[in-house]
Amino acid sequence: MAFVERVFSGVQPTGNLHLGNYLGAIVNFVKMQETHNCIYCVVDMHAITMGIDVWGGPAELARNTREVTAAFIASGIDPNKHIVFNQSQIAGHAELTWIFNCVARIGWLNRMTQFKEKAGKDRENASVGLYDYPVLMAADILLYRATHVPVGEDQKQHLELSRDIAQKFNNDFSDSIRGHGFADGLFFPQPEPLITGPATRVMSLRDGTKKMSKSDASDNSRINLTDDADTIAQKIRKAKTDPEPLPSEEKGLEPRPEADNLVGIYAALAGISKQEVLTQFGGGQFSSFKNALVEVCVAKLAPIASEMKRLVADPGHVDAILADGASRARDLADETMRMTKDIVGFIRSH
Ligand code: AMP
Ligand code: TRP
Repeated sequence: MAFVERVFSGVQPTGNLHLGNYLGAIVNFVKMQETHNCIYCVVDMHAITMGIDVWGGPAELARNTREVTAAFIASGIDPNKHIVFNQSQIAGHAELTWIFNCVARIGWLNRMTQFKEKAGKDRENASVGLYDYPVLMAADILLYRATHVPVGEDQKQHLELSRDIAQKFNNDFSDSIRGHGFADGLFFPQPEPLITGPATRVMSLRDGTKKMSKSDASDNSRINLTDDADTIAQKIRKAKTDPEPLPSEEKGLEPRPEADNLVGIYAALAGISKQEVLTQFGGGQFSSFKNALVEVCVAKLAPIASEMKRLVADPGHVDAILADGASRARDLADETMRMTKDIVGFIRSH
């Protein structure tokens, strides 16, 4: 059976949405709306996998959930044509996670590099949820039997795990799946990662070898979607560079991570290729390139920041958008859960 194409992706409400989230993920979310039915989820259940001191507690979680929702809408996601909701409103995410917990293998999870990074040295003290995080992510996607998942480069390994879980479920239950009317034995699709664009991995402004991250202690390492024009200008002017002028060819960026990152950011924001950026700025000093970068950055981000501000000032409106999205998502999720329970052999009342 060919699966109906559907897009699903998620962003954690853990504060400080930044240019990496925007260029690596949200810009592609916006684009996919033209060709697909899309579901965009604020993954609040993922957000609580770190310690409460990291995610900030109940008031902060609710505030950040509304802020990510506002960022989606301010960036151009249409919550009427597509679905925007927060994960915890749909019980199916947790339910399907349990079934997938019994399909996924410990050996698979032990290979996840993000867990190793996030758990750090004190692995014994990490939450069980942090370890299980990729299984919840597989459940997010497959609860809607989504086929395409736009994400940044750092999520590639998690997507591979989702594909493995889908495949093993289909294998383990193949007879039952056929018995329930799926002649080819395929119930879950193997979701494809969409990792595209010139900025699938935006790096820190302070260190071109580290990715731009919400959790970096230095606020100067990232451009937040809520930064005003002066802050953006300051951060870009302070951004680490090297003493050489910009090269004229892309190959010249290879050994220069900071230059490569800034050129990549410019290209992504201006909608041109890195080579086109270098054709324009190659041979010139960083100072004049940085001025131009401030300009495109402010031109793109300032309207988003002001629209986000307007939206978060009206939490009732944002909550209504999430409730409406959740009610439409629930119809799809319930249908998948009903079929999944039948396939697994769980008795349910009709
Ligand atoms: P998160 O905030 O971790 O939930 O990430 C949300 C989305 O942003 C995911 O698709 C990530 O892959 C993407 N993302 C996060 N950081 C970066 C980055 N520095 N560069 C590109 N994409 C990123
Ligand atoms: N793990 C993703 C991140 O940190 C967020 C996420 C959760 C997600 N569930 C998802 C992304 C499902 C895509 C699909 O970026």
